[in-house]
Amino acid sequence: METVLVLGGTGSLGSSILEVLRQRAYRIRATARTPLKAEQLKPSVNEVVVCDPTKPETLQPSLVQGVDYIISALGKSLSLSDTSRASFHDVDFQGNLNLLQLAQAHGQIKKFVYVAAFSGEKHPNVAYFKAHETFAQALQQSGIEATIIKPPALFSAFLDLLPMARKGRLASVGPGDCLTNPIHEHEVAEACVQALTSPETVVELGGPVSYSRLELVQLVGKAVGKNKPVTKVPYWLVNSFLPMVRLVNRSLYEKAAFFVEVTKTDCVAPKKGHLRLEDYLAEHV
Ligand SMILES: NC(=O)c1ccc[n+]([C@@H]2O[C@H](COP(=O)([O-])OP(=O)(O)OC[C@H]3O[C@@H](n4cnc5c(N)ncnc54)[C@H](OP(=O)(O)O)[C@@H]3O)[C@@H](O)[C@H]2O)c1
Repeated sequence: METVLVLGGTGSLGSSILEVLRQRAYRIRATARTPLKAEQLKPSVNEVVVCDPTKPETLQPSLVQGVDYIISALGKSLSLSDTSRASFHDVDFQGNLNLLQLAQAHGQIKKFVYVAAFSGEKHPNVAYFKAHETFAQALQQSGIEATIIKPPALFSAFLDLLPMARKGRLASVGPGDCLTNPIHEHEVAEACVQALTSPETVVELGGPVSYSRLELVQLVGKAVGKNKPVTKVPYWLVNSFLPMVRLVNRSLYEKAAFFVEVTKTDCVAPKKGHLRLEDYLAEHV
């Protein structure tokens, strides 16, 4: 039986990846950065290794020995409830690079599947996209066969808005007229597992429906029964606050800069998903 090492298995996408791998005939090794998270992962995998890829001193050669494939959904959370100070560069780039270097030195990896973000190459000045793109390039040049998976927003990203929606505090930045097509994390997880044995080097995939950014926020409001008009925050106001946020909290600034940037252009990936966001929100409310 072939072994897949999964990074980010404690996250939204990572847990879907574990679920898909369990349905196929793979042996699963996963990482967790605390013993508590390792305990929580144990029932879903064959083996858990406690380590933190952002801290190379915690990575032992045995992590990659005997591993046939790696899937990484390791990345700094975009959630506003995550208050860690690590940057996207620290986690999405350096954490993944540490693992890649370990795999190069001590592994015999047939394929490394990495989850980046759709349209990242168009936003080189946004830390979130830059970190993903820079690691994807390092992986493509590493000599290990690789597939880069590029989804736009995952459905799980909208769960973060539910508490604000319940308080009637939803807001949208700018006019909110640019389009995107979020996708269910389970469908991205299936693409990750399929990529282990497919020759594709880049897989771009989005959900079946394109929504404007404003429609997306309204959809979350509707899901909790709040149909109040959404507050539109003008760009001039956001732009006057961002430099101050940057001074006091770099991590929050990087997230805010990402959220503002994605409202400015359409971000519609090839429509490969079938599941609908409306149904997902109804299930999770
Ligand atoms: N969410 C989206 O809409 C979306 C869209 C496109 C691409 N992506 C990308 O897909 C990947 C997975 O996204 P997701 O939504 O599943 O993310 P998530 O739920 O936040 O999970 C992220 C994973 O990375 C780990 N991690 C975060 N910070 C870490 C740190 N400082 N040190 C070590 N491990 C750390 C987390 O471990 P802990 O559980 O210990 O925190 C978790 O396992 C990310 O790279 C993300 O950028 C996401």
